[in-house]
Amino acid sequence: MNHLLSIKDLSKTQLLELLALAKEIKANPQGYSQALAGKSVVMLFEKPSLRTRVSFDIGINKLGGHALYLDQQNGALGKREPVSDFASNISCWADAIVARTFAHKTVELLAEHGSVPVINALSDMYHPCQGLADFLTLAEQFDDVSKVKLAYVGDGNNVTHSLMYGAAILGAKMTVVCPLGHFPDGQVVCETQALAKQHGGELVLTSNIDELGEQDAIYTDTWLSMGDNTPLADIKAKFEPYQVNEALMAKAGANYFMHCLPAYREVEATAAVVDGEGSLILQQAENRMHAQNAVLVTLLG
Ligand code: CP
Ligand code: NVA
Repeated sequence: MNHLLSIKDLSKTQLLELLALAKEIKANPQGYSQALAGKSVVMLFEKPSLRTRVSFDIGINKLGGHALYLDQQNGALGKREPVSDFASNISCWADAIVARTFAHKTVELLAEHGSVPVINALSDMYHPCQGLADFLTLAEQFDDVSKVKLAYVGDGNNVTHSLMYGAAILGAKMTVVCPLGHFPDGQVVCETQALAKQHGGELVLTSNIDELGEQDAIYTDTWLSMGDNTPLADIKAKFEPYQVNEALMAKAGANYFMHCLPAYREVEATAAVVDGEGSLILQQAENRMHAQNAVLVTLLG
């Protein structure tokens, strides 16, 4: 493993090892307090962030390393100088790059032109650190994460893609319910369906919310991802049947609700569900740090 650009690049063994290491670091943080001693990580962010920025910064600190945050107040990377120069220059000083970018291509360019590991902290296509934290969260609730029935309801986006790869590689059953025109990327669908088959899992895709079926956990995300300037009013009517509310949770018999955050209450999910008893949102947020630290220790430790 040289980089973490997408969960799709991980084998089942690598994915399970990352989850096991994250659990170990969470249980025994002292044992890893010098894992990144003397190492510096540059964090490049083209988009806003609360959880990712803070969990990487504090996480790196807890591993004994040093994090340097570079925001891009002037817009996308590559404006002042080429992305390839960013990558080659940062590689002269830093031991790893964490990048949140608009285009996934930018993360790929950083990996191609730099000589240090690159970790994707969200691109338009994937959010692998989120996916790892989410499967860690599920692994804490269920003895065998491959037996979990996970549904994603809403906009097929970067988070959906990472969950689909994770579920497929783990051999879990995942149901994705999106409005027509908002399905996950076609290539991701093909690849994850093949991976699910290979690993004994199942990936169901539908636009019919009545086909949701029995689920253990229902996951949703914002209907409008960062960089999508469509007014909410333009899509609201189309998305409303896909709101995760108490009736939907009850119909699916789902005990758990998941969301990567930020959550827009009474939009993609009701406050009663987001803040309800079965909500795993804070466990997911906390696990961002442990999952990312497992990635950092694997790549740099
Ligand atoms: N879930 C997540 O990535 O949150 P931030 O956008 O706040 O980093
Ligand atoms: N899909 C969302 C996730 C935010 C963490 C976005 O890309 O904005």
